[in-house]
Amino acid sequence: ADVRTAAQPPQGPAGERRRSKVAIVGAGAVGSTLAYACLLRGASREVVLFDRNPEKVEAQALDIAHGIAFTPMGTVDGSDDIAICTDADVVVVTAGAKQKPGQSRRELAGATIGIMRELIPRLTAVAPDATYIMVANPVDAVTYASLAISGLPESRFFGSGTVLDSSRLRYLVAQECGVAVQNVHAYIAGEHGDSELPLWTSAMIGAVPLLEWGARSGGGALDEATRNRIADEVVTSAYRIIAGKGATNYAIGLAVVRIIEAVLRDEHLVLSVSSRLDDYLGISDTCLSVPSIVGKSGVNRQLVPVVSDHELSGLQSSAEEVRSITRQFGF
Ligand code: LAC
Repeated sequence: ADVRTAAQPPQGPAGERRRSKVAIVGAGAVGSTLAYACLLRGASREVVLFDRNPEKVEAQALDIAHGIAFTPMGTVDGSDDIAICTDADVVVVTAGAKQKPGQSRRELAGATIGIMRELIPRLTAVAPDATYIMVANPVDAVTYASLAISGLPESRFFGSGTVLDSSRLRYLVAQECGVAVQNVHAYIAGEHGDSELPLWTSAMIGAVPLLEWGARSGGGALDEATRNRIADEVVTSAYRIIAGKGATNYAIGLAVVRIIEAVLRDEHLVLSVSSRLDDYLGISDTCLSVPSIVGKSGVNRQLVPVVSDHELSGLQSSAEEVRSITRQFGF
């Protein structure tokens, strides 16, 4: 079922810059919210949804399309035919096992990697030149395995990683300090999972190092107890939300549309996406989230922030967590 759901914008003269196209695989809560966010923000002129369930993918596309009168110009289509992803500039894979209340992301690895073994070759056959953004969990292990399956260059095959977690951290620090979230530059690094860790040492609030906030802002210090409380709240956010509403979708949708914009606009934006690390602070042969420069070719460069010994050992432990999953499934 292929749903053409909006009047095609007038075609410009021959040679007009080709319209950007984003293909979202999986029309569940995350994939459909992401499609909605792409239209709402005008991130891409063409958004397509692919899902093996024709009724669901058609309904999701139609329900978004009915609001196009209120969004920037764009089109949204949905189909259970993977050809709808043909020649996409960005492919986002949200399809995967769903995290149940109390379940860790790690427990989804076997099912999701099994889906990728079949799905990735079909996607790269129709969109060989796309930049791939993996979202399905456990996203670091899934990205590492899918990158190997795809055979694509590692720069344009990465995962949403801890971009969402970093925005959770920034939100909580902003609330605690009474500053705008835009002025909180702080990253969660490591796996997108229980072993993720905040990089407090390199964090800044406006022009002030986070660890010196109390002394330099006239506000209350972000003491260790407060930092630990915030870090714990970030790590447990998804469990809490899933227990309450069955899934997370809004913040992950907004995080991923921001990554898509950075790619399509070649923004060279620093985001904590999950990409393959080799000889990064002694960490190799895994996918992990570290602050990275994201542009049209995907992950241009991985940055190496100043880290404490504790943060370095946390990154190394997190890398081992991911490697233990990928080794379990033959990668
Ligand atoms: C979360 C899901 C995307 O952290 O893993 O909300």
